[in-house]
Amino acid sequence: MNTLPKQALVVWVFAVVIGGVFAQFSGAQAPAAPQTAAQAFRNVVVLKDLPSEQLVPTMQYFEAALGVGCNHCHLLARDLDDKREKAVARQMILMVAEINKNSFGGRHEVTCYTCHRGSAKPVGIPPADAFRPQEPGAGREAEGLLDKYLLSLGGMDALQKISSRVVKATATDFAGRKVAMEYFSKSPDKGTIIAHAPNGDIVQAYTGNTGWLRIAAGQPRDLRGDELAAARIGDQLLFAARLKPSLTDLRTGPAEKVGDRETNVVLGTLYNRVPLKLYFDKTSGTLHRIVYYVETAVGPLPAQMDFSDYRDADGVKLAYRWTISRPQAQGLQTLQIDQLQQNVPVEDSRFARPGAPMASR
Ligand code: HEC
Ligand code: HEC
Repeated sequence: MNTLPKQALVVWVFAVVIGGVFAQFSGAQAPAAPQTAAQAFRNVVVLKDLPSEQLVPTMQYFEAALGVGCNHCHLLARDLDDKREKAVARQMILMVAEINKNSFGGRHEVTCYTCHRGSAKPVGIPPADAFRPQEPGAGREAEGLLDKYLLSLGGMDALQKISSRVVKATATDFAGRKVAMEYFSKSPDKGTIIAHAPNGDIVQAYTGNTGWLRIAAGQPRDLRGDELAAARIGDQLLFAARLKPSLTDLRTGPAEKVGDRETNVVLGTLYNRVPLKLYFDKTSGTLHRIVYYVETAVGPLPAQMDFSDYRDADGVKLAYRWTISRPQAQGLQTLQIDQLQQNVPVEDSRFARPGAPMASR
C-alpha cells in the first residue's frame, strides 16, 4: 500500500496530467463501457442510475460546492456508510433532485452550490448562478473573435504547417512541488502527456474520440469523457487547429476583465458535450482563459486554464505558461514550457495503448 504522502503526490501529478478534472481516486474501479454507477461501484444508492463516469466528477463537485475534501464525507473506504455527513449528503442529493423536479422542470437550476457556496454550513444567500451562459444570437460576432484568435496565432495556414509538437515542461503545484512533463501532439488528432512522477510515469494518450491512461506499471484504462475532453482542450496546437469545427452553439457573452486585461467572451459547446467559455484579449485577440464545465449529477463543475507568455516558434504563437485552476482544494497548478520542438517525427506508437492494438470506436 502507498503511504499517504506518496499517494497525495501521485494524485496531484495525475490532476496535472489531465488538465485538472480528476483527483483522489485511483481509477481502478472505473469501467471501460458505459455503465451505471451502481454497476461500477459497491454502495451507490441514490446516484445508482448515474453514468458511472460521472460519479467521481460529482464527488469533486461536492468538494467544490461545500469547500471540503473527500474526508468530510468519507473515512478511508468510500463504499462504507461510516460518516454522518455522507448520510446527510444522500438526503441532500434527493432534496436537490426533488426541488429541481418540482420547481424547475428537472433542470439543474438549484445545485449544492446554490446554498452552500463553498461552505459546509450554508447561510441564506440568494442563488447567483454564475455558470449560466447569456442569451444566444451573437454567432457571427463569436466567429469573428475565433478568426481573430487564429490570426493572432499566425493564421490557420501556419497552424496547419505544424504537423507535430514535442514539449518539455515543468508543472508546479500550489505547494511549490515540481514534476517534469512531456507533451506530444500529432496532427490531426493525437496527443500524449507524460508526467515523470516519483512513483513512476503517468501516461495519458488520445486518438480522436478514444484515449487511455496508465499509472506507473498499472493496467491502462479508458479515459472517462471528462478526462478525454480535458486532454483535447489542453492540447494547444490541436485545440486551436480544430477549434472552429469542434464548436457548436456559438455566441458571445458580456465582456469581462481577466486580471488587468479586457477580454471578449465567446460561449459554445465543444464536441457536442462540453460547455465552454473562451476569453480573448480585446486588443491582440489571443486566448487568455478557457473555462469548461464537466457534467455531474448535480450540476456543471468548472475547470479553468489561463494562458500567458506567448512566444513565436516556426511562424505560430504558443503560450509558454498555463495556470490550471479548479474549485476544489489544491486545485491550482502552473505549467511552464522549458523546451519546444515542432515538425519533428513522432512515432504512432507514442499514442497506442500499451498491450493491445489501438481500438477504433
Ligand atoms: C458531501 C459529501 C461527499 C464528499 C465531499 C465526497 N463524497 Fe463520495 N460519496 C458521497 C455519497 C453520499 C456517496 C454515496 C452516493 C449514493 O449512494 O448514491 C458517495 C460515494 C462515493 C463513491 C462510491 C463508493 C462505492 O464503492 O460505493 C466513491 C468512489 C466516492 N464517493 C469517492 C469520493 C471522492 C474521491 C471524493 C473526493 C473527491 C468524495 N467521494 C467526496 C458523499 C461525498
Ligand atoms: C436548499 C439549500 C441547500 C442545498 C441546495 C443543499 N444543501 Fe446541504 N445543507 C443545507 C443546510 C441548511 C444544511 C445544514 C447546515 C447546518 O446544520 O448548520 C446543510 C448541510 C449539509 C451537510 C452537513 C454539513 C456538516 O458538516 O454538518 C452536507 C454534507 C450537505 N449539506 C451536503 C449537500 C450536498 C452534497 C448538496 C447537493 C447535492 C447540498 N448539500 C445541497 C442546505 C442545502
